[in-house]
Amino acid sequence: MFRSGSFSGKSMDVGTIFAGNRKWVEEKLRLDPSYFEKLSKGQNPEVLYIGCSDSRVSAEELMGVQPGEVFVHRNIANMVPNTDLSAMSVIDYAVSQLKVKHVVVCGHYYCGGVKSAMHPADLGLLNPWLRNIRDVYRLHQSELDAIDDEEARYKRLVELNVQEQCVNVIKTPDVQKAWKERKLEVHGWVFDVRTGMLIDLGIDFEKILQQIMKIYRII
Ligand code: CO
Repeated sequence: MFRSGSFSGKSMDVGTIFAGNRKWVEEKLRLDPSYFEKLSKGQNPEVLYIGCSDSRVSAEELMGVQPGEVFVHRNIANMVPNTDLSAMSVIDYAVSQLKVKHVVVCGHYYCGGVKSAMHPADLGLLNPWLRNIRDVYRLHQSELDAIDDEEARYKRLVELNVQEQCVNVIKTPDVQKAWKERKLEVHGWVFDVRTGMLIDLGIDFEKILQQIMKIYRII
Protein backbone atom coordinates (compact mmCIF):
# COMPACT_ATOMS: atom_id res chain seq x y z
CA MET A 1 0.00 0.00 0.00
CA PHE A 2 2.79 2.42 0.92
CA ARG A 3 5.33 1.16 -1.57
CA SER A 4 5.71 2.91 -4.84
CA GLY A 5 8.95 1.27 -5.98
CA SER A 6 12.56 1.97 -5.17
CA PHE A 7 13.77 5.39 -6.32
CA SER A 8 17.07 4.05 -7.62
CA GLY A 9 15.62 0.76 -8.77
CA LYS A 10 18.37 -1.27 -7.05
CA SER A 11 18.58 -2.84 -3.63
CA MET A 12 20.81 -1.29 -0.98
CA ASP A 13 23.73 -3.05 0.63
CA VAL A 14 23.83 -1.91 4.26
CA GLY A 15 27.61 -1.84 4.01
CA THR A 16 27.28 1.23 1.80
CA ILE A 17 25.51 2.97 4.69
CA PHE A 18 28.56 2.54 6.92
CA ALA A 19 30.86 3.62 4.09
CA GLY A 20 28.62 6.69 3.66
CA ASN A 21 28.83 7.39 7.38
CA ARG A 22 32.64 7.27 7.40
CA LYS A 23 32.77 9.62 4.41
CA TRP A 24 30.38 12.02 6.15
CA VAL A 25 32.50 11.97 9.35
CA GLU A 26 35.65 12.71 7.31
CA GLU A 27 33.99 15.63 5.53
CA LYS A 28 32.70 17.15 8.76
CA LEU A 29 36.11 16.81 10.46
CA ARG A 30 37.89 18.29 7.45
CA LEU A 31 35.77 21.45 7.79
CA ASP A 32 35.89 21.55 11.58
CA PRO A 33 38.13 19.14 13.56
CA SER A 34 36.08 19.74 16.74
CA TYR A 35 32.67 19.33 15.03
CA PHE A 36 31.57 16.20 16.89
CA GLU A 37 33.12 17.33 20.14
CA LYS A 38 30.92 20.45 19.94
CA LEU A 39 27.86 18.32 19.05
CA SER A 40 28.45 16.17 22.12
CA LYS A 41 28.09 19.22 24.42
CA GLY A 42 24.31 19.30 23.96
CA GLN A 43 21.51 20.54 21.77
CA ASN A 44 19.68 23.84 21.57
CA PRO A 45 17.22 23.53 18.66
CA GLU A 46 14.69 26.30 18.10
CA VAL A 47 12.36 24.22 15.95
CA LEU A 48 10.33 21.08 16.57
CA TYR A 49 9.48 19.41 13.25
CA ILE A 50 6.72 16.79 13.12
CA GLY A 51 6.68 15.10 9.72
CA CYS A 52 5.87 11.90 7.84
CA SER A 53 8.14 8.83 7.97
CA ASP A 54 8.03 8.66 4.15
CA SER A 55 11.56 7.94 2.88
CA ARG A 56 11.27 10.70 0.27
CA VAL A 57 10.63 13.39 2.89
CA SER A 58 13.97 13.65 4.69
CA ALA A 59 13.43 16.38 7.28
CA GLU A 60 16.89 17.93 7.69
CA GLU A 61 17.84 17.66 4.03
CA LEU A 62 14.72 19.34 2.67
CA MET A 63 15.10 22.21 5.16
CA GLY A 64 18.85 22.54 4.59
CA VAL A 65 19.56 22.37 8.31
CA GLN A 66 22.47 20.86 10.22
CA PRO A 67 22.51 18.38 13.13
CA GLY A 68 21.52 20.18 16.33
CA GLU A 69 19.22 22.72 14.65
CA VAL A 70 15.88 20.88 14.54
CA PHE A 71 14.23 18.43 16.94
CA VAL A 72 12.47 15.84 14.78
CA HIS A 73 9.52 13.51 15.22
CA ARG A 74 8.26 11.41 12.32
CA ASN A 75 5.42 8.92 11.98
CA ILE A 76 3.02 7.76 9.29
CA ALA A 77 1.19 10.82 7.92
CA ASN A 78 2.62 13.30 10.48
CA MET A 79 -0.05 12.66 13.07
CA VAL A 80 -0.38 14.15 16.56
CA PRO A 81 -2.90 11.85 18.26
CA ASN A 82 -3.73 12.94 21.77
CA THR A 83 -3.24 9.41 23.13
CA ASP A 84 0.06 8.72 21.35
CA LEU A 85 2.66 8.69 24.11
CA SER A 86 5.51 9.07 21.65
CA ALA A 87 4.19 12.25 19.98
CA MET A 88 3.05 13.69 23.32
CA SER A 89 6.46 13.03 24.91
CA VAL A 90 8.27 14.67 22.00
CA ILE A 91 6.08 17.80 22.27
CA ASP A 92 6.45 17.91 26.04
CA TYR A 93 10.23 17.63 25.90
CA ALA A 94 10.71 20.02 22.98
CA VAL A 95 8.38 22.72 24.31
CA SER A 96 8.89 22.50 28.07
CA GLN A 97 12.55 21.45 28.29
CA LEU A 98 14.27 22.52 25.07
CA LYS A 99 11.97 25.55 24.85
CA VAL A 100 11.72 25.57 21.07
CA LYS A 101 10.32 28.73 19.49
CA HIS A 102 8.54 27.02 16.59
CA VAL A 103 6.47 23.86 16.30
CA VAL A 104 6.03 22.71 12.70
CA VAL A 105 3.68 20.05 11.37
CA CYS A 106 4.85 19.21 7.86
CA GLY A 107 2.73 17.02 5.60
CA HIS A 108 3.53 16.10 2.03
CA TYR A 109 1.65 15.60 -1.20
CA TYR A 110 1.52 11.98 -2.44
CA CYS A 111 1.38 10.75 1.19
CA GLY A 112 0.63 7.01 1.26
CA GLY A 113 -0.97 7.24 4.71
CA VAL A 114 -3.40 9.94 3.62
CA LYS A 115 -4.15 8.10 0.37
CA SER A 116 -4.90 4.87 2.26
CA ALA A 117 -7.36 6.70 4.51
CA MET A 118 -9.31 7.86 1.46
CA HIS A 119 -10.29 4.32 0.47
CA PRO A 120 -12.02 1.43 2.23
CA ALA A 121 -9.41 -1.16 3.22
CA ASP A 122 -8.70 -3.31 6.25
CA LEU A 123 -5.06 -2.60 7.07
CA GLY A 124 -4.94 -4.33 10.44
CA LEU A 125 -2.84 -2.49 13.00
CA LEU A 126 -2.86 0.59 10.80
CA ASN A 127 -6.67 0.91 11.01
CA PRO A 128 -6.83 2.98 14.22
CA TRP A 129 -3.91 5.15 13.12
CA LEU A 130 -5.47 5.90 9.74
CA ARG A 131 -8.86 6.44 11.36
CA ASN A 132 -7.44 9.71 12.71
CA ILE A 133 -7.15 10.84 9.08
CA ARG A 134 -10.64 9.56 8.29
CA ASP A 135 -11.81 11.77 11.19
CA VAL A 136 -10.15 14.75 9.50
CA TYR A 137 -12.08 13.87 6.32
CA ARG A 138 -15.34 13.76 8.28
CA LEU A 139 -14.63 17.15 9.89
CA HIS A 140 -14.15 18.71 6.44
CA GLN A 141 -16.44 16.44 4.44
CA SER A 142 -18.51 19.14 2.75
CA GLU A 143 -15.40 20.92 1.43
CA LEU A 144 -13.68 17.70 0.34
CA ASP A 145 -16.73 16.09 -1.27
CA ALA A 146 -17.21 19.24 -3.36
CA ILE A 147 -13.83 18.64 -5.05
CA ASP A 148 -14.46 16.43 -8.11
CA ASP A 149 -10.87 15.78 -9.11
CA GLU A 150 -9.50 12.95 -6.95
CA GLU A 151 -5.90 14.18 -6.96
CA ALA A 152 -6.99 17.69 -5.94
CA ARG A 153 -9.15 16.21 -3.16
CA TYR A 154 -6.21 14.08 -2.03
CA LYS A 155 -3.92 17.13 -1.91
CA ARG A 156 -6.51 19.12 0.01
CA LEU A 157 -6.86 16.31 2.56
CA VAL A 158 -3.08 16.40 3.04
CA GLU A 159 -3.37 20.14 3.81
CA LEU A 160 -6.40 19.78 6.09
CA ASN A 161 -4.68 16.94 7.93
CA VAL A 162 -1.72 19.25 8.61
CA GLN A 163 -4.14 21.90 9.89
CA GLU A 164 -5.91 19.46 12.22
CA GLN A 165 -2.62 18.08 13.55
CA CYS A 166 -1.56 21.67 14.31
CA VAL A 167 -4.81 22.04 16.23
CA ASN A 168 -3.88 18.85 18.10
CA VAL A 169 -0.53 20.45 18.97
CA ILE A 170 -2.39 23.49 20.36
CA LYS A 171 -4.57 21.20 22.49
CA THR A 172 -1.58 20.04 24.54
CA PRO A 173 -0.99 21.64 27.96
CA ASP A 174 2.72 22.19 27.20
CA VAL A 175 1.94 24.35 24.18
CA GLN A 176 -0.86 26.25 25.93
CA LYS A 177 1.42 26.98 28.87
CA ALA A 178 4.30 28.09 26.66
CA TRP A 179 1.91 30.27 24.64
CA LYS A 180 1.09 32.23 27.77
CA GLU A 181 4.65 32.52 29.02
CA ARG A 182 6.68 33.21 25.91
CA LYS A 183 6.67 33.52 22.16
CA LEU A 184 5.81 30.21 20.51
CA GLU A 185 4.61 29.78 16.96
CA VAL A 186 2.84 26.80 15.39
CA HIS A 187 3.24 26.36 11.64
CA GLY A 188 1.52 24.14 9.07
CA TRP A 189 3.66 23.25 6.06
CA VAL A 190 3.44 20.88 3.10
CA PHE A 191 6.39 19.44 1.18
CA ASP A 192 5.68 18.90 -2.51
CA VAL A 193 7.57 15.74 -3.44
CA ARG A 194 7.13 16.54 -7.13
CA THR A 195 8.88 19.95 -7.02
CA GLY A 196 10.94 19.70 -3.84
CA MET A 197 9.33 22.92 -2.60
CA LEU A 198 8.26 23.54 0.96
CA ILE A 199 4.94 25.38 1.16
CA ASP A 200 3.73 27.39 4.15
CA LEU A 201 -0.03 26.88 4.36
CA GLY A 202 -0.32 30.24 6.11
CA ILE A 203 -2.81 28.89 8.60
CA ASP A 204 -4.17 31.63 10.88
CA PHE A 205 -3.51 30.09 14.27
CA GLU A 206 -4.53 33.10 16.30
CA LYS A 207 -7.97 32.77 14.71
CA ILE A 208 -8.14 29.00 15.18
CA LEU A 209 -6.95 29.42 18.73
CA GLN A 210 -9.77 31.83 19.50
CA GLN A 211 -12.28 29.41 17.98
CA ILE A 212 -11.14 26.29 19.77
CA MET A 213 -9.85 27.53 23.10
CA LYS A 214 -13.33 27.81 24.54
CA ILE A 215 -13.47 24.02 24.25
CA TYR A 216 -9.85 22.92 24.59
CA ARG A 217 -8.35 25.38 27.05
CA ILE A 218 -6.90 23.50 29.99
CA ILE A 219 -4.61 26.13 31.48
CO1 CO B 1 3.37 10.42 4.13
